[in-house]
Amino acid sequence: MLNSTASVMEEYSLARWARQLKRSALQDMLVVGSKPDLISFAMGLPAPELFPIAGFIEAAARVLTDESSPLQYAPPFAPLRTQIVKLMARRGVTCCEKQILLTVGAQQGMNLLVRLLLDPGGQVLMDEVIYPGFQQVVEPYLPEILTVPHDHESGMDVEAVEELLSNGARPAFIYAISNGHNPLGASLTEAKRQRLVQLAAQYSVPILEDDPYGFLTYENEALPPLRAFDERWVFYIGSFSKILAPALRVGWIVVPETLIPQLSAVKEASDIDTSTLTQRLVSAFLHDHDVHSHIALLRRTYKSRRDAMLEALDKHFPSTARWHAPASGVFVWVEMPEEVNTLDLLQTALETVQVAFIPGQAFSVGRAKPATNCMRLNFSHCNEERIAEGIARLGQVCLKQ
Ligand SMILES: Cc1ncc(COP(=O)(O)O)c(C=O)c1O
Repeated sequence: MLNSTASVMEEYSLARWARQLKRSALQDMLVVGSKPDLISFAMGLPAPELFPIAGFIEAAARVLTDESSPLQYAPPFAPLRTQIVKLMARRGVTCCEKQILLTVGAQQGMNLLVRLLLDPGGQVLMDEVIYPGFQQVVEPYLPEILTVPHDHESGMDVEAVEELLSNGARPAFIYAISNGHNPLGASLTEAKRQRLVQLAAQYSVPILEDDPYGFLTYENEALPPLRAFDERWVFYIGSFSKILAPALRVGWIVVPETLIPQLSAVKEASDIDTSTLTQRLVSAFLHDHDVHSHIALLRRTYKSRRDAMLEALDKHFPSTARWHAPASGVFVWVEMPEEVNTLDLLQTALETVQVAFIPGQAFSVGRAKPATNCMRLNFSHCNEERIAEGIARLGQVCLKQ
């Protein structure tokens, strides 16, 4: 059997972009390191014990016994769009059903928008450290990637965006994670939100606002998303993955109504339709339960886990390491001294103390210096005790660097 990338390429003529795909050393390492005693801060997994399973069972039973067959091909489930309009209103966004397209999670939302907007070889603009799932979406287009630096607390450097645009850059879009940035944990300040949206309108460049963490805030109410400031140039991407459960694979995008027919055609080519069953299950759940009290429970739990992680970092990490308390999302971004290589550190941590995290270079894009001295730590999945234990173990390895 042919296994290696080289052998596959000898046998099959892969598309040009796919020839550059490499096996991820990181994935290999995480598989090797998945021992029973492993404490993983690697993936952005929600707390499994908080999935509202009883509510899902009731909702599923009701939906499955409904006469209007929930197992059939069907158009998008209209009542769910109305429920999303109400959810968006809670975030300060005014939109209507006709501006909403239901998707298979935020990942598909960004995929469809990228397919609609990006020509092969076109420009895209993003942070120099960004969610790898987005990098994977643009990869097939072999784009010219324009990056801007960031501030660890307030996110994307909007001045740098302005500089690029005023110097003639014309990206197909700006990709922005406005709240609880993955991996930085940063949330854009109000001033940055307003300025970014002004720039988008001034230069007629849409913003893809990826906001799966917008409901998960720990200090005050979140600032309104970028979409609240402009309905023409901000294309909003939302998801039930982090507030209900990722396995439902239900998300949505909010775009100008004129784009819905094109996006529906792109979606049809991709997967015909979002699962009728899970759309209806989410809708039934939202109808029968107060999702905001569920979100409040998530916020309390994750805030306590975040604080446990920050406390453990203070206690066990070297004084040369730097991090900020994220006001939203599920990640803490830690910067070690320049000379530390966190890929090597991960290998040692897996072998000696069975702790996993994602090294910074997995998130680096473009020509920027890779974040080889950084690490992303997730705090939503493990409870406070496991977090304290895992950070203490990881701290031992960091102190030896
Ligand atoms: C920034 C960001 N966008 C999108 C996604 C994908 O979300 P979904 O499960 O809704 O597809 C994630 C998942 O972790 C994410 O962190």
